[in-house]
Amino acid sequence: MFISFEGIDGSGKSTQARLLADALRADGRDVVLTREPGGSPGAEEIRRLVLEGDPDRWSAETEILLFTAARRDHMERTIQPALDAGKVVITDRFADSTRMYQGLSRGDLRGIVDQLHTLMIGRDPDLTFIIDMDPAKGLLRAKGRGGHEERFEDFGEALQARMREGFLALAKEFPGRCRVIDGDRAPGAVAEDVAVIARKSLAWTARA
Ligand code: ADP
Ligand code: TYD
Repeated sequence: MFISFEGIDGSGKSTQARLLADALRADGRDVVLTREPGGSPGAEEIRRLVLEGDPDRWSAETEILLFTAARRDHMERTIQPALDAGKVVITDRFADSTRMYQGLSRGDLRGIVDQLHTLMIGRDPDLTFIIDMDPAKGLLRAKGRGGHEERFEDFGEALQARMREGFLALAKEFPGRCRVIDGDRAPGAVAEDVAVIARKSLAWTARA
């Protein structure tokens, strides 16, 4: 089973992805926890290209190619082998992030994102948790974390607000796989909701 976490920066995706991996491992499952951009040596190299440096370093179109190249490598080297081995794969971000950040932030490029996705990736997760969060609070959390990878956080609260609306619309577009989770609670409370849904979904998949 292939599970992704999505949402704006600072919404708690990484925290929740880790907590879900811990919970499923405690159930005795073999779990691969990974992230995007990155998740394989080649994709981690591309991560540095896209997340460090001037915010205007790449056009939106070039970014679509770079993020999709990173995803293709991540898929080939990490995700697909783990799924083939019967493991649960949990990824912190996947193609929905490209649909939002590159598809919506600088003009409407969603059609290009989707075409390239169909051509080069060809699948979406079985289950996607969209961690919903007030943009100002998310930005404060993300800034509090520090580090050099602030390209997209630097676009500010207005972009975060548009991304939040975009993610909520995406949940409506893909109701079969998307679950919206209120991220503005203690990490443990959020994790409990996430684990209940994931376990139900895994049990259902096993029966099917
Ligand atoms: P994301 O991966 O969505 O950017 P993180 O999981 O890295 O978010 O969390 C961003 C920051 O907020 C981290 O410093 C983390 O410890 C903190 N954090 C995560 N979840 C919560 C929560 N539910 N309540 C308060 N702080 C949180
Ligand atoms: P991430 O490390 O998940 O940051 P955060 O923990 O702050 O959410 O992702 C880094 C940035 O990359 C984030 O601002 C969103 C952006 N991003 C895209 O623009 N397109 C993509 O396809 C992906 C996967 C990430």
